[in-house]
Amino acid sequence: MSAKEIKVKINNSTLLKQPNKEVKISVRDLNLFYGEKQALYSISLDIHANEVTALIGPSGCGKSTFLRTLNRMNDLIDGVKLSGNITIDQENIYKTTDVINLRTKVGMVFQKANLFPMSIYDNVAYGPRMQGIKNKKELNEIVESSLRGAAIWDEVKDRLKTSALGLSGGQQQRVCIARAIAMKPDIILMDEPTSALDPISTLKVEELIENMKKDYTIVIVTHNMQQAARVSDKTAFFLSGEVVEYDETNKIFSVPSDQRTEDYITGRFG
Ligand SMILES: Nc1ncnc2c1ncn2[C@@H]1O[C@H](COP(=O)(O)OP(=O)(O)OP(=O)(O)O)[C@@H](O)[C@H]1O
Ligand SMILES: [Mg+2]
Repeated sequence: MSAKEIKVKINNSTLLKQPNKEVKISVRDLNLFYGEKQALYSISLDIHANEVTALIGPSGCGKSTFLRTLNRMNDLIDGVKLSGNITIDQENIYKTTDVINLRTKVGMVFQKANLFPMSIYDNVAYGPRMQGIKNKKELNEIVESSLRGAAIWDEVKDRLKTSALGLSGGQQQRVCIARAIAMKPDIILMDEPTSALDPISTLKVEELIENMKKDYTIVIVTHNMQQAARVSDKTAFFLSGEVVEYDETNKIFSVPSDQRTEDYITGRFG
């Protein structure tokens, strides 16, 4: 088999045939360069609605880079070039000029809680206010439902007007999730959202992610294999900028097809 044939085979193997599931995000032959350096190699995969999709792989393999292509956060980095196609709800996101709208629809939660130095209330109301919502009652409702949606309401309802930076790390991360929810996204991207948290806060966020998938499509980067196995429906294993294997999480963690996947999930490298 020629190198090209092998590559085609790899690409096809990452396209799961699941006729009954709604495809939310469709990626085809995505290549990404930072200047001269290629970071992603012909990635093709479908991400399904109302599922949690985990991205795993060793440091530097391109997980964050890939995640950022899904809401065009890479546009903000100088010298990034990409080719291929990404559609969300059948619309090519690199053809639309309304990137603000795209980032409203595709929210993001980062590794470290990045709340603004303002009250809990103002943090969650920030996005809706930027969208022009001024009505106090409406803002109150958005803030409450978002904090409830992020399973943090009961812990903060009596201190909404105090600084968000006075919360614990785990609480701050859930307020970040509330802030994302307040924008009424369809898709939430999470880049190692629990890596700075203690085990109890981590479990709370994981529980939250499980409950959220009925309303959102979630893509999560994690270095924690147990976490990927616990929270996700599908898992993509990245290595050196390629997707080596993409499948049902159960299958990836029990009978992976590729030796490299097996070596990684059993801790033999990375
Ligand atoms: N802004 C940038 N400019 C140039 N190269 C970059 C930039 N960001 C990432 N890279 C390179 O692209 C490759 C993929 O990086 P990326 O951050 O996507 O990896 P990752 O899988 O998220 O790693 P980690 O698990 O450590 O977060 C790496 O070689 C990295 O050095
Ligand atoms: Mg990363």
